[in-house]
Amino acid sequence: DDSALIDRFGRKATDLRVSVTDRCNLRCSYCMPAEGLDWLPGSDLLTSEELTRLISVAVRDLGVDEIRFTGGEPLLRKDILDVIAGAARLTPRPRMSLTTNGLRLPELAAGLKAAGLDRVNVSLDTLRADRFFTLTRRDRLTKVLDGMAAAAEAGLTPVKVNAVLMRGVNDDEAVPLLEYCLDRGYELRFIEQMPLDPQHGWDRDRMVTASEILDMLRGAFVLTPHPAPRGGAPAERWVVDGGRGSVGVIASVTQPFCSDCDRTRLTADGQVRSCLFATTETDLRGPMRDGASDEEIAALWRAAMWGKAAGHGIDEAGFAQPRRPMSAIGG
Ligand code: GTP
Ligand code: 5AD
Ligand code: SF4
Repeated sequence: DDSALIDRFGRKATDLRVSVTDRCNLRCSYCMPAEGLDWLPGSDLLTSEELTRLISVAVRDLGVDEIRFTGGEPLLRKDILDVIAGAARLTPRPRMSLTTNGLRLPELAAGLKAAGLDRVNVSLDTLRADRFFTLTRRDRLTKVLDGMAAAAEAGLTPVKVNAVLMRGVNDDEAVPLLEYCLDRGYELRFIEQMPLDPQHGWDRDRMVTASEILDMLRGAFVLTPHPAPRGGAPAERWVVDGGRGSVGVIASVTQPFCSDCDRTRLTADGQVRSCLFATTETDLRGPMRDGASDEEIAALWRAAMWGKAAGHGIDEAGFAQPRRPMSAIGG
């Protein structure tokens, strides 16, 4: 299939992750300093028409069949519903999900569903209000919990919940978080923290590993391997207590899934990244604004993906974090 986004290692990218803004209304300590970061200038941001154009090239010309909207916080984009509705009009219609901190879901969940979004993933690292404030520097836990409920109510399901455990910070909450999610039918996933913070404070010894998380969960629940095929999904999934629900663990660091990676990324300022950890990017915004055709844009995108590295290289000598922080890549 010579129109697809394939790389030298034979992987095919069919899952497009689009960061629609680098801004956020929280300040999670592992992601952003209290004062925020240097936001991308407005003129560099893709407009909703430009986003729709690039998404349509990905879907029609490059074989992308799944789109994930990320940020920063994607629900801060005033025109997010237009972008989603634009993508929903494409044939074949891509599957669409969005990763959010949940704060704006109480107002937006129904509209997102109506625009064509299929489901959401909500980030939640703690159920304790005091800790939520320490972790995110904002006192908004209730809003996030209401947001998850609003998403479920609107049919943005399955609602998945992402939790990053940090040693000595919230690593005593694995079991309560899972209880909370099981009771409400949400699928919780625990994520190993990766070296993507702008403060460069990541430390392998402070990371709570997948095996530690599974040990904590096994103290309270019976976990059996999930029968569904994993495909290129980052999460390894487990059935809890014989069918009460399921839980996932995303072991990006200790058990990398790079060899099955099916992702391509677009930043809010129109750069293709072949990997979360890529050190180079390919500009699509400039060529698009200079009048490039869909076929020319598709060719640039294919070339960008051909150069995708075999893996993230976190464990290799000389590993360097990408210059762009997580909040501007979109996870
Ligand atoms: P679904 O399970 O389909 O909902 O998608 P997902 O788990 O990929 O989406 P989400 O945006 O919720 O990401 C969850 C975690 O997986 C985040 O911490 C991401 O940074 C991490 N992640 C997503 N894509 C990649 C990737 O390509 N490589 C690595 N190492 N981690 C990723
Ligand atoms: N490593 C792993 N996950 C991270 N997230 C943010 N920063 C990191 C990191 N350094 C998570 C957020 C959110 C998801 C998109 O990525 O908690 O749930
Ligand atoms: Fe915002 Fe997500 Fe970063 Fe937290 S992890 S500051 S919610 S972009």
